[in-house]
Amino acid sequence: MTVCEYKPGLEGIPAAQSSISYVDGQKGILEYRGIRIEELAEKSTFLETAYLLIWGELPTEEELKAFEHEVLFHRRIKYRIRDMMKCFPESGHPMDALQSSAAALGLFFSRRDLHNPVYIRNAAVRLIATIPTMVAAFQLMREGNDPVKPRDDLGYAANFLYMLNEKEPDPLAAKIFDICLILHVEHTMNASTFSARVTASTLTDPYAVVASAVGTLGGPLHGGANEEVIQMLEEIGSVENVVPYVDNLLKNKAKIMGFGHRVYKVKDPRATILQGLAEQLFEKFGYDEYYEIALEMERVVSEKLGGKGIYPNVDFYSGLVYRKMGIPTDLFTPVFAIARVAGWLAHWKEQLAENRIFRPTQIYNGRHEIAYTPIDQR
Ligand code: ACO
Repeated sequence: MTVCEYKPGLEGIPAAQSSISYVDGQKGILEYRGIRIEELAEKSTFLETAYLLIWGELPTEEELKAFEHEVLFHRRIKYRIRDMMKCFPESGHPMDALQSSAAALGLFFSRRDLHNPVYIRNAAVRLIATIPTMVAAFQLMREGNDPVKPRDDLGYAANFLYMLNEKEPDPLAAKIFDICLILHVEHTMNASTFSARVTASTLTDPYAVVASAVGTLGGPLHGGANEEVIQMLEEIGSVENVVPYVDNLLKNKAKIMGFGHRVYKVKDPRATILQGLAEQLFEKFGYDEYYEIALEMERVVSEKLGGKGIYPNVDFYSGLVYRKMGIPTDLFTPVFAIARVAGWLAHWKEQLAENRIFRPTQIYNGRHEIAYTPIDQR
């Protein structure tokens, strides 16, 4: 076997063959199953896009109705899961609550039947349906309230906002939230998707696959950056402070949250769409003073780091959108997970179709033939 050159972070190393999504990082193009993200954001819905990703083709009207109905039917969570979540500490991070709750689903549906398309479909439906309910339930319970039941007359996005805020959302907010889910649902071989595929390759259950991916998504270098962006804008406080703030980060070789991407060397196309969505929300529900700071950040960082291909990524404007919808900052990454679960499931299904367990190698750089030192001589 030829030994390849070691690439930290596996940069540029293909980990799978996949037909789910495609990114051209130089041109700023993102496609799901060959369809441009801009077109899906304009014309599709989250559930239709999830279907496209998992089953490979856009559903017919009948297929979509059946899928939407199945998801609607599975939105409730078992009372034992709800009671388990009640015991979680209110101070715990909602991503940790989500990871634990997703893993707990495996306790209830532990049968593995990975060659059976009905099992695959049921597991996918159950995860897509229950993850939003678990995120909203934890939010209400950590405030000392009982979770609210999903409402069957509301669509996927509207129902989540309803479960979170205990009131029916404005239709524009619900529509924009649905578009946000489309924008976050899938993105080639990123860290959490890789994590999902590695876990899937052991032929464990899909709940473990999703739980491992949720754990990976939470880190600040990945999905957790959206939360940190708002904290950063808060810290900066005013447009005048942007330049000294950025200079200070650069002097200390610190990363500027919401900027840079392993693949994109131009502005992330999702950031462009999210920025437009934020502006639509500001128009209807009032301006957000952080937007001025964000615009100045984009200008300054692009000027200073554009030469290295560092521009806003998906996490830069998403927080401003969610903030305007009244979503608490530490729920931004769980909201990302609500969307991304469908992408992970598409990769789970694809991995199973041609599975080989992931077992990379390493370059050992430690010592050999060392004698054991008795404890009293160390
Ligand atoms: N701020 C300042 N400098 C940066 C940034 C940034 N956000 N991103 C990259 N750079 C610089 C690095 O310092 C490095 O410079 P050097 O070559 O002079 O040393 C160069 O660009 C390459 O950076 P790497 O860290 O090697 O890039 P990598 O591809 O490993 O990391 C990552 C990509 C993790 C996204 C990085 O850009 C980053 O940390 N960004 C901030 C966190 C963030 O927004 N994450 C969300 C990404 S989107 C998502 O996961 C959903």
